[in-house]
Amino acid sequence: MGKTRKTSPLLVAQISDLHLFADDRRDLLGWNTWESLEKTLQQLESSSPHPDLILLTGDLAQDESEAAYLKILQRFVTLGIPTYWLPGNHDRVSAMERVLDRPPVFTDKTIDKGNWKFLLLNTHVPGEVYGALSEESLEWLDAELSQVPVDRPTLIAMHHPPFWVDSPWLDRSGLQNTEAFLSIVDRYSQVQLVLVGHVHQEFECVRQDVTYLSTPSTCIQFMPKSSNFALDDAQPGFRLLHLHPDGRFDTVVERVCFDQQLNLAAQGY
Ligand SMILES: [Fe+2]
Repeated sequence: MGKTRKTSPLLVAQISDLHLFADDRRDLLGWNTWESLEKTLQQLESSSPHPDLILLTGDLAQDESEAAYLKILQRFVTLGIPTYWLPGNHDRVSAMERVLDRPPVFTDKTIDKGNWKFLLLNTHVPGEVYGALSEESLEWLDAELSQVPVDRPTLIAMHHPPFWVDSPWLDRSGLQNTEAFLSIVDRYSQVQLVLVGHVHQEFECVRQDVTYLSTPSTCIQFMPKSSNFALDDAQPGFRLLHLHPDGRFDTVVERVCFDQQLNLAAQGY
């Protein structure tokens, strides 16, 4: 490894599926989502070095209220780390755009940091659990990628996965127009990584030299490889990524030890 700052990797934290409420006493299937986010952020704050940036990959507010987004803003302003967000199915995009816009929380969807390019996509479809990329989003992605120098590694983040996790109930609610997305990604060798949320579990696959990663939720976890909705008693988590200037990366999912009782008999969320 080189000694100069220029060759040091960028440290990125992906935090996903927070499912927060304006009222911090409320819970999701028996799980207090604010308490587990707080534990997650404390673990992040106590680690060294701190991330250079945070990506919030959707499902920020379970009640989709402006008050919840305001509370989220205040917490991440206090944290003081540059934070970028994108919406999930459990989000209200207009409220996010109004509220989640005070440094170090930014609405930018294209970010240049270190030698890396970050592109954040909106897969939210109003009223639906599944996701899709609009024609405008696909055109925007294509146009942005066409401007990225070939030696600039690129990370794409979005909420809904363009891959299956062997869990039929979840796979039905993934990205619906995956082929359109992949046909763009396939044309640009700069794309190294695609990060998603939505599936509330850790998953990894590789397709044509691009690594696709999902990350646990900061609250409830879904049972891997389950045909129907089922909860897992795995701990909440977040992902850390060391992104090297030449496009290589190392990544690890950190689990957050936290004693809460899930409603494992729940039938949906
Ligand atoms: Fe979620």
